[in-house]
Amino acid sequence: MNVLLLAGSPSIPSRSTRLLHHVGERLAVLGHRSSKLHVLDLPAQALLHAEFNNADIKEAKERLQLADAVVVATPVYKAAYSGILKAFLDLLPQDGLAGKLVLPLATGGSQSHMLALDYALRPVLLALGAKHVLPSIYATESQIDWSADNGLILDAGIAQRVSDGIANLSANLVAMRTARAGDFMPVPFSQVPEVVKVDTRQTVHDGPALRLLEKCAEQNVRVIFKRVENAETLDALSRIGAVSGRVIHAQGFLWDLPNASIAPRKPQAQILPLQTVSAPFAKAG
Ligand SMILES: Cc1cc2nc3c(=O)[nH]c(=O)nc-3n(C[C@H](O)[C@H](O)[C@H](O)COP(=O)(O)O)c2cc1C
Repeated sequence: MNVLLLAGSPSIPSRSTRLLHHVGERLAVLGHRSSKLHVLDLPAQALLHAEFNNADIKEAKERLQLADAVVVATPVYKAAYSGILKAFLDLLPQDGLAGKLVLPLATGGSQSHMLALDYALRPVLLALGAKHVLPSIYATESQIDWSADNGLILDAGIAQRVSDGIANLSANLVAMRTARAGDFMPVPFSQVPEVVKVDTRQTVHDGPALRLLEKCAEQNVRVIFKRVENAETLDALSRIGAVSGRVIHAQGFLWDLPNASIAPRKPQAQILPLQTVSAPFAKAG
């Protein structure tokens, strides 16, 4: 899969760009290819005058179009993202991020603007058609230190958040690749498990989830969606239940119930205690 590291800082050196490159290095260790695109390297005249057909801008847009995922980094400027990043995003077509995973990250002077990515950048990414905008990563300057001698040093909290973000992105890239590959690998009958557990902290994609349910039902294997921790995931599972006509087994701390199943009825998911489900794949009543 192809990851584009998009740097939106006008500064050299740049903390947000350094953090971005760190993400690229970590992705490489996990086997994901990435390339760098620095908005700063694009012609300022073309950015300022919105020259859609400038050759360098066109090439940058083509590189973006070819990417499966974009990690976009920006400094926080005046409680939002940088102006040059916006100048570049303005030159993209309306569906410029269609089908792409996006991981936003930012550095800022203080914690005061840690939500800037969520209230300022995220809506723009979604408006450009991003398939999935992963939870953003925000670091203050005091949490990032680097020098030629010591390299990059992250404070423990931000190091964990970066690791989580990278793991999330990697898992989503693998899921995307699997979905593109079309089908599941055949597993010898002797190795078929009784239960398949799906960690929903990674994205729950409708297509692959439906195929997984289908395949598992054929083998009488139960699927349990674990770690349902937000309303979006609950909605996605509810939708999958409605489309598949199957009871979805789920666990998570979203509800008081430690184990629950979602009955596939529209418009709202109905949460049932797991033990009330007699057959693993009972059709909707
Ligand atoms: C023009 C300007 C505006 C800034 N505005 C904010 C701000 O509103 N909130 C904040 O937390 N930091 C702000 N900062 C600090 C930068 O976000 C911070 O230094 C960031 O780490 C710079 O990233 P960079 O090195 O990648 O450019 C501002 C810095 C500049 C130069």
